[in-house]
Amino acid sequence: METSALDRFTVEHSAHRVPDDKRAEMLAAPGFGKYLTDHMVTIRYSAAEGWHDAKIGPRQDFSLNPSTMVLHYAGEIFEGMKAYPMPDGGGALFRPQENARRFNASAERLAMAKLPEDLFVDAVRELVRIDRDWIPTGGEASLYMRPFMIGTEIAIGNHPSDSFLFAVIASPVGSYFKGGVSGVSVWVSENYTRAAPGGTGAAKCGGNYAAALAAQKEGAQQGCEQVLFLDAVERRWVEELAGMNVFFVFDDGSIQTPPLTGTILPGITRNSLIALARDQGMTVREEPYAIDQWRDDVASGRLVEVFACGTAAVVAPIAQLKGRDFDISIGDGGMGPVTAQLRKALTDIQFGRADDPHGWVDRVF
Ligand code: COI
Repeated sequence: METSALDRFTVEHSAHRVPDDKRAEMLAAPGFGKYLTDHMVTIRYSAAEGWHDAKIGPRQDFSLNPSTMVLHYAGEIFEGMKAYPMPDGGGALFRPQENARRFNASAERLAMAKLPEDLFVDAVRELVRIDRDWIPTGGEASLYMRPFMIGTEIAIGNHPSDSFLFAVIASPVGSYFKGGVSGVSVWVSENYTRAAPGGTGAAKCGGNYAAALAAQKEGAQQGCEQVLFLDAVERRWVEELAGMNVFFVFDDGSIQTPPLTGTILPGITRNSLIALARDQGMTVREEPYAIDQWRDDVASGRLVEVFACGTAAVVAPIAQLKGRDFDISIGDGGMGPVTAQLRKALTDIQFGRADDPHGWVDRVF
């Protein structure tokens, strides 16, 4: 047992680390979320003690009383972020303070305790440091970091939990989609919506993702990889996919994405792409876009590319849009030039291949 450099975490190195040759095999074909690293972070909160007992230790199972609140009332929030291999052998995070900020916004919406932002960032940085050998170095693979928090009060009555467990785990990842960066097919959900005004759409809580699964399953039955949600009021305006924001590219070179009205997740990738597009002199609109307009604009040739974006998905072209009575193709099934250009601008910064004019890259080691 030792105290970490930050003097905030006790550190226990795993006595059962995955052997080097086995880890190398995993890193060569990581998939997405298939493997976890050797260590994890845990920090506890109680009303009496506040945040305490910060640990970096061997990754292990949790033991929970069956009446722990999260198991019944879904008091769970999470973040998705990545540690990237740098050309000089180091490792870096991308805008981790933004994840910390959004995590606390989610905590507030779900009546959970807020974690000091610097503690959130230090926890993720410490895990990257101790598991640095798990950062893949080939292609555009990276180490996916998953901070999350659950309500741990033991109670059957439904009220805000008075205790919480914050944890960070990490998983080496390659492409989120099986087809790599080839076009994704999307099913337009008519039977389900993702979020209503006043709901939890802008929070990154497990419940949103659970609620998207029936629509996702319906889409899969239609042969689609992803599902697109429309707004819950008019059932007309494009919102987002189940875990990714969406962008449209027009023939005049402008791009558009639905505005953040409270029902859409404020993606950090979304925000970064808007900034990078503006840096390149592109016109970017954060304005509502109707599903009928999408269909008309594909037919007229005005809409030339569509892409999804998120930490896990990065930037992925949408090649097919399918609904109850239509099935349309967008572009030639691959990645269009504007999508490719924005994807490159983003990943070049993330992987340390380009200058970082916005100061987004956070070197960990
Ligand atoms: C991410 O992009 O990091 C997410 O949390 C989305 C999830 C579906 C993997």
